[in-house]
Amino acid sequence: MKLFLDTADRKAIEKWSKTGIIDGVTTNPSHLSKEGSNPQQVVKDICQMLPHGDISVEITETTQKSVYEQAHAIAKIATNVVVKIPCHVDYYEIINQLVKDGIKINVTLVFTLIQSTFMAKLGVKYISPFVGRWDDIDVEGGELLFEIRSMFDRYNYQTELLAASLRGVRHLHTAILAGADAVTLPIDVLEKTMSHPLTNQGMDKFLTDWQKLGIKQFPQ
Ligand code: E4P
Repeated sequence: MKLFLDTADRKAIEKWSKTGIIDGVTTNPSHLSKEGSNPQQVVKDICQMLPHGDISVEITETTQKSVYEQAHAIAKIATNVVVKIPCHVDYYEIINQLVKDGIKINVTLVFTLIQSTFMAKLGVKYISPFVGRWDDIDVEGGELLFEIRSMFDRYNYQTELLAASLRGVRHLHTAILAGADAVTLPIDVLEKTMSHPLTNQGMDKFLTDWQKLGIKQFPQ
């Protein structure tokens, strides 16, 4: 399973990529708008930090022609860029053409099994179902991941299931159980999922017991 960071914060990306478990980054216009007035440089820096990772960068144009042109321009920023395009009815034709052009696409803002099926038919690299935003309106978002996994496997689609809008440990647990090919996590969620109070408690107990021996150096 690939693990992406859901942020454009370069310091955080640099820090957490050293753990060896990070496979890329999913930026979005909200993340990039927090990082100052030169988003292109921010994206270039992130692409250099993780040269073998997939770095998703979202389109910000809206008309079909401008989205098509911008997608090509974004893809040229670096070889590891994946162009993020919302799953909007107006963009099907563009996505179809971009896939034929060889552009790697992450279709974002996916909310249904049917949207996922249509995008897999177009052959995009990733689809990003938004689990947390379903939960925000009191609908169980995790169930969608199981449905998409089962559909991908039944039809043998090559598109990868990227679980997005994950807001906590329970969401990540569900995404792994559902068999997501990739997950993207905000930094605070990553931190929460990496530590456990019983691990800390167990370490304290082992250390306290060990110190009773009064040994200065081990092994000698
Ligand atoms: C994913 O690509 C999105 O950037 C992100 O997961 C959205 O998460 P949110 O619903 O918490 O904003």
